[in-house]
Amino acid sequence: MAAGIFGFIFYIFSLIWSLIVALIGRIYCWIWFNILSVNMVKYDKRIEEHKLELFADLADFKEDTEVYPITPVVQQSRSPSRRKQQTAVDDKFTILEIGVGWGGNFRYFPEGSDIIAVEPTFPKERFAEYLAMIHSHGHGVQISKVVATDPEDLSQVETETADVVVCTKVLSNVRNVDQVLQEIRRVLKTGGRFYFMEHVFQPERSFTHYTQRLLNPLQVKFGDNCHLTRETWKNIDKAGFAEVRYKRFSAYKMPSIIRPHLMGTATK
Ligand SMILES: C[S@@+](CC[C@H](N)C(=O)[O-])C[C@H]1O[C@@H](n2cnc3c(N)ncnc32)[C@H](O)[C@@H]1O
Repeated sequence: MAAGIFGFIFYIFSLIWSLIVALIGRIYCWIWFNILSVNMVKYDKRIEEHKLELFADLADFKEDTEVYPITPVVQQSRSPSRRKQQTAVDDKFTILEIGVGWGGNFRYFPEGSDIIAVEPTFPKERFAEYLAMIHSHGHGVQISKVVATDPEDLSQVETETADVVVCTKVLSNVRNVDQVLQEIRRVLKTGGRFYFMEHVFQPERSFTHYTQRLLNPLQVKFGDNCHLTRETWKNIDKAGFAEVRYKRFSAYKMPSIIRPHLMGTATK
């Protein structure tokens, strides 16, 4: 009798506990998403004009790759008598984005793009909810895959998969910029393009230069490994891309320590 009562209490307790865990999970997911998106929306508004400039030619690039696929897919006929190689068109335009966050870049992507989302900081077990949230900002793109790893190791993504890799406001946080760039080069198709925008160090001696140097250790420690003194253009220059184009600019609406910015493209 006593065992039965205890069993019943234990059953009710586990039901309540599962409910609490599910609720906390949802709340955690909601908080994470909303804090990130509120901050990101603010940041994004301030640099919107620069993002528009960065992605201005992306739709044209997509159209060019549809007409002249950057890596033609070579297919073999099944029939042994007709086993001559044929070139087919890979009709998916794949964008791999590192540090997708709340999906704020999707609105700059051509409609119909296929997205591989890399987002290491999101709690891995809550992907389904995360995806649903991201989808609500989908802007006509489809997320075909979410990769929950650090971008230094994208081994879940096959070599030469992406027509385009996008990475904005992320390289200042990663552990190893050079390793991430090598992974980006590996997953890009030959002729594919890497679009980037980052806040960077101001190498010219100025008030900003000295404040960045002074505050960098604090920012790294308390700001999710965000570095203020990275000269990211140097890493990109030596990463082995066939063609690199960038400019440094001042994101004049941002606070002075993250005002110096870099944006551009690198083609494999
Ligand atoms: C400042 S937000 C930028 C979001 C988005 N790329 C944009 O431009 O709106 C930085 C993003 O990078 C992610 N992130 C943080 N540390 C990272 C790391 N070490 N590697 C890859 N992504 C990281 C964060 O979770 C967040 O989604």
